Amino acid sequence: MKYRLLNGIKVSEIGMGCMGLSHGYGQIPSEEYSIEAIRKALDYGCTFFDTAEAYSPNMQGIGHNEIILGKALKGRREEAVIATKLHMSTEEVNEKGVYQTIRDHLMASMERLQVSYVDLYYLHRVNRDLSMKEIAQAMGKMIDEGLIRGWGLSQVGIDTIKEAHEITPLSAIQNIYSMVERSSEDEVIPYCMEHGIAVVPFSPVASGLLSGKVSVQTDFSHSDDVRKFVPQLSNENIDANKPLLDLIQKYADEKKATMAQIALAWMLHKYPNIVPIPGSKNQERILENLKASEVVLTKKEFDLLDKTLDSIPVQGFRGHIEFQGDTMKDWGRRK
Ligand SMILES: NC(=O)c1ccc[n+]([C@@H]2O[C@H](COP(=O)([O-])OP(=O)(O)OC[C@H]3O[C@@H](n4cnc5c(N)ncnc54)[C@H](OP(=O)(O)O)[C@@H]3O)[C@@H](O)[C@H]2O)c1
Repeated sequence: MKYRLLNGIKVSEIGMGCMGLSHGYGQIPSEEYSIEAIRKALDYGCTFFDTAEAYSPNMQGIGHNEIILGKALKGRREEAVIATKLHMSTEEVNEKGVYQTIRDHLMASMERLQVSYVDLYYLHRVNRDLSMKEIAQAMGKMIDEGLIRGWGLSQVGIDTIKEAHEITPLSAIQNIYSMVERSSEDEVIPYCMEHGIAVVPFSPVASGLLSGKVSVQTDFSHSDDVRKFVPQLSNENIDANKPLLDLIQKYADEKKATMAQIALAWMLHKYPNIVPIPGSKNQERILENLKASEVVLTKKEFDLLDKTLDSIPVQGFRGHIEFQGDTMKDWGRRK
């Protein structure tokens, strides 16, 4: 495993997205299996674990995923870099103020995670009713207090990043980014590169599309399966994106790698400040994704792949649209 820096915080260059162990991809595994999966990733050399207070079955309740991660890392906390996220409503901020609201969320997360500090604390979604200046100041105060080591924003555009970074330097931006979701390449990634901010792509395997393992037969009907809303995974678009998948398969054959590994190796080669966090509910695939760190593309291979990707139109697009809203139910609302 190789390592990268999130504004001074050292992490394995591929992390583990833990969300699917609690939410988003259908039936969740047993707690025992999930804990074992996290420990196997840690044993393999993965030191970066991504969770959020919101990751619970059907997005009901709070903290299911943090509790599992806390149990899995118990006794090995110092080996791991823990990233978690909060969402705050306008109502609670009106009642308690920004700092106290964030602090209360953080304390609750720390209790579930069984830790005395969090390495990286993200605002999960921007709420336009709340002041980014006050949020950045509050995060800065919590860094000074030793409660968090760094902070970040998720699903944000360049203006929000600039506004926040000027007040309290950001460690990471977590936006959707993959071979089929490249809008962050325009401004966000270049700005982050220039300012020492890491980019932590979520859904780097495009919710499974880029693994080549999703087909029109794959069942997304479970009530807690986000794939039914992923445009690239609609029946028409799985087929329409075949030229892209064929390209990835060709590289996978040449490099004796899997398609998911090529999708991850591509972004690791492309930007030195990228740390993807693929997610899987399957222990073997978690390790497969971490092993993408060993798949090295030569400059020639990368250049051709990148150039060819540019020439293949992608069918279906989500983008890193900033969502706003008071409650998580509003997350689908566009700015
Ligand atoms: N900030 C945000 O708003 C936000 C949003 C979404 C996610 N996230 C974070 O980002 C992490 C990753 O995102 P994600 O889980 O949506 O995306 P992802 O890693 O692109 O896709 C996960 C899906 O792809 C499949 N998959 C992954 N690797 C595979 C492989 N090697 N072979 C075959 N199938 C594979 C998984 O299936 P199996 O489980 O069956 O292997 C799962 O259905 C999450 O765990 C979460 O921590 C953050």
